[in-house]
Amino acid sequence: MSDVQLPNSDKSAVDQPDAGRTPVRFRNPGLPAHQHRRADSDPKAARRAERQVLAMLGLSALGTVVSLVGYFAIPLDGTFGTLRLSNITLGLGLGFGIFFIGTAAVHLAKTLMPDTEAIDERHPQRGTDEERATAAEIMTASGQESGLGRRPFILGGLVGAAALAPLPAVALLRDLGPLPGDSLSTTLWAPGVRLALDPSAEPIRAADVTLGSVFHVIPENLYESSHFLDEKAKAAVLIMRVDPGVVQYRADREGWDVDGIYAFSKICTHVGCPVALYEQQTHHLLCPCHQSTFDLTQHCKVIFGPAKRALPQLPIEVDDEGYLVATSDFHEPPGASFWERG
Ligand code: FES
Repeated sequence: MSDVQLPNSDKSAVDQPDAGRTPVRFRNPGLPAHQHRRADSDPKAARRAERQVLAMLGLSALGTVVSLVGYFAIPLDGTFGTLRLSNITLGLGLGFGIFFIGTAAVHLAKTLMPDTEAIDERHPQRGTDEERATAAEIMTASGQESGLGRRPFILGGLVGAAALAPLPAVALLRDLGPLPGDSLSTTLWAPGVRLALDPSAEPIRAADVTLGSVFHVIPENLYESSHFLDEKAKAAVLIMRVDPGVVQYRADREGWDVDGIYAFSKICTHVGCPVALYEQQTHHLLCPCHQSTFDLTQHCKVIFGPAKRALPQLPIEVDDEGYLVATSDFHEPPGASFWERG
């Protein structure tokens, strides 16, 4: 702000700020003199700035369209490639849409909006009715002075880009539905489905599971599913072979293991991380995310950490060819707790 020329009656207040009352005007603390911008005096510079603002608004609109294309036109076929492409397109499109609206607004304000200095009077927060009416008039006049009315292309571009920008958010609301039904409670495990190695899907013979060993397991038919990643997130299992005598007997789990081979869901019941660490000596399973610990000797009951439920057990048996198979699905939903969990 430049030095302000004050009426003589105010100068004493400026010069005596500590004279027991609030000065009417304060000294300029040393701000440099106001510099007028080129766009204020050079019509060519103003037109150039106008084109730049329009270009930024155009890029914003383009980004929004790209994000919509990423959402609607890239089919998610369950592979990482399409998922990554869709996420990148969505993210970049949304980012460009918002970024260029911001830069256009800043550039518009810095180059084309009125650049006159004004004195901001201090007064009680609520003015008189007359002052409020005057303020409303000033606001209206400022809107007219902003020049947007004289620059219909910029106004149109601004309205267009701002109108398009929220559309991806509206489109993303689609992801809140449809309701999952019982899909969170059921998995690919069913009577006769073989237990197979993750990720090769090679079926596992009971004889290959030696005492003390642990296997990461998927249903043999996992890759036949069109949404195999979703299915894997529910059906992943760990099998461990222990001396059958170390596991507490439970009548309701009679026949769920095969000679000390136990199968439990690998998905932590806290918030769903894979429980991937098995301590052979203690028979504890550890979740690396928040250290929930499950005790195999107590049918994977929680003995430490934030998880609230035991890992669901998968009942298994051996088929005629010696392979491990499930005898049913889990008897309760695997993974993190969720609303209406049965
Ligand atoms: S997800 Fe396993 S402890 Fe939190």
